Amino acid sequence: MSLVVANWKMHKTAPEVEEFCRRFPEEIAGLSGVDIVLAPAFPFLSAARDPEARWSVAGQNCSAEPSGAFTGEVSAGMLASAGCAYVLVGHSERRRYFGEEDVVLGFKVERARQAGLVPIFCVGETLHERDAGLTDEVLDRQLSALDEDLLEAPLVVAYEPVWAIGTGHNATPEQAGEALARICRRLSKRSDLRTIYGGSVTPENAEFLIEQRRIEGFLVGGSSLDPQSFAVICRRSTRRAPA
Ligand code: PGA
Repeated sequence: MSLVVANWKMHKTAPEVEEFCRRFPEEIAGLSGVDIVLAPAFPFLSAARDPEARWSVAGQNCSAEPSGAFTGEVSAGMLASAGCAYVLVGHSERRRYFGEEDVVLGFKVERARQAGLVPIFCVGETLHERDAGLTDEVLDRQLSALDEDLLEAPLVVAYEPVWAIGTGHNATPEQAGEALARICRRLSKRSDLRTIYGGSVTPENAEFLIEQRRIEGFLVGGSSLDPQSFAVICRRSTRRAPA
């Protein structure tokens, strides 16, 4: 079963979310073998839920605090009560623009667990780090935020090289496969791990990226905004060559 997540970031107003959810079901009619997740902005979590459970919803972020006087924050418990099954933790835009570091991300994972949400934990190196040969070191450091997490709890790790996000330059299957192999080795004691790839995934490249055996699905930004193109990615993620 593959996993394909739409990360809508700070896109879509209420009518646009409604329109997507109205058109999407016919685009995915008859599709099986893929868990589909939509991550809209917080105000539209309820609107994006599917009463027929053909997809689930995720928060794009959660607070590192459980509750309290933290104006503007949204807790993992609130996300769960709004119907979320997953939450993105450590997206590179959170790390880069909001200064989220490994320690705080460890707390967010803990909050997600307490609320019964599955974290979609995002890791990935910058171009500068890749060029300097630091990819493995960066991934290991980012994954250290999971050191205190329960080994048997379900976890999704998204490998999203920063240089591939929103740039139109996706990683090659070999590059993604190598990084995901490193991630799997680092997390080898975990019993319920799914590994996905994100960064300029399109309907065109999804077809060959999914052939890489460690890519079990995708985290999709730009190409997830349109129901038709996102549905094509969902369909293609199920077309894995026989092992
Ligand atoms: P992109 O974004 O598909 O637009 O590159 C991916 C992401 O940031 O999760």
